[in-house]
Amino acid sequence: MKILVTGGLGFIGSHTVVELQNEGFEVIAIDNLSNSSIDVLDGIERITGKKPLFENIDLRDKSAVQSFFSKNQDISGVIHFAASKAVGESVENPLLYYENNINSLVYLLQELQKKPEAHFIFSSSCTVYGQAEKMPITENAHIQSAMSPYGNTKQIGEEIITDVAKVTNINSILLRYFNPIGAHPSAEIGELPLGVPQNLVPFITQTAFGIREKLSVFGSDYPTPDGTAIRDYIHVVDLAKAHVIALQRLLNKQNLEKVETFNLGTGTGSSVLEVITAFEKVSNQKLNYQIVDRREGDIVEAFANTDKANTVLGWKAQSTLEEALTSAWKWEQKIRNK
Ligand code: WQD
Repeated sequence: MKILVTGGLGFIGSHTVVELQNEGFEVIAIDNLSNSSIDVLDGIERITGKKPLFENIDLRDKSAVQSFFSKNQDISGVIHFAASKAVGESVENPLLYYENNINSLVYLLQELQKKPEAHFIFSSSCTVYGQAEKMPITENAHIQSAMSPYGNTKQIGEEIITDVAKVTNINSILLRYFNPIGAHPSAEIGELPLGVPQNLVPFITQTAFGIREKLSVFGSDYPTPDGTAIRDYIHVVDLAKAHVIALQRLLNKQNLEKVETFNLGTGTGSSVLEVITAFEKVSNQKLNYQIVDRREGDIVEAFANTDKANTVLGWKAQSTLEEALTSAWKWEQKIRNK
């Protein structure tokens, strides 16, 4: 079976391509290389022995999307990662985010609705919950109004998919990620943040390697045990495996509704200081950091209730925080020592 992975050379996309190939799927990856590198194809091949099909396509180009699908009628399922995802950038440049994240989704769905049946996995985010009232967060937690245009594109995306499902043969699963971290244990693929990393773990590994002088911890006056904010950090390989399981659920027509939603996290919250302590343990070196003011727009706490993914999907995150941090550190050392 041929599966389309949009954003297939990106961080989560590339790890999902590996897991799809491991399950025997034929993969065609499309990516506009705006936040990824063509070298990722070789990294995937070094892991699985198979180089996925690849086309450099920008999903904002409606005619390119149309011609791609007319040339690839045999696609059985789509996993849609391609999107801009930097929260801060989305505040500075909202139209870039609405054009890229919404138009691309619409053009994809317009092609899928032409098929007798279609199976669609959507990359969503826990950001749709904003600061949830109750921890751990379940899938029916209230969707708060988005804190950023990025988060809003995920909320709008989910609504578009839900509306479309009512009048088409597109079956979808929305996967709400918590905080993806780490890299493939082979260190052949991993996160490649452009410029100064926005996210905590790549900033930690770059600081540890000496690329960044020190880590700024954004706030230690939160109402949490150690004062720093809490998140649910999930190994990217665990996340990738969940995508394959979700796709197989649709392909095997096991879905109970046309749109199903799952939180993908570990179910455990870790504070920034706990992540730093865990990293110092796995890297066996002290991390240079300072406490600074809170970052605008950050929430205090978010970690997943994973009961639904565990029982309905039959998926559970396997890796510990330390294992994920070990893989991130191994990857950082690998790409810097090239
Ligand atoms: C984690 C914690 C920061 C950097 C975002 C998006 C979310 C998803 C994951 C795409 C927070 C603290 C961070 C630093 C710090 N992205 N931190 N110093 O903000 O939880 O989620 O990325 O889907 O949608 O919102 O992740 O890694 O930026 O921050 O203290 O240099 O680390 O304040 O508490 P976040 P993050």
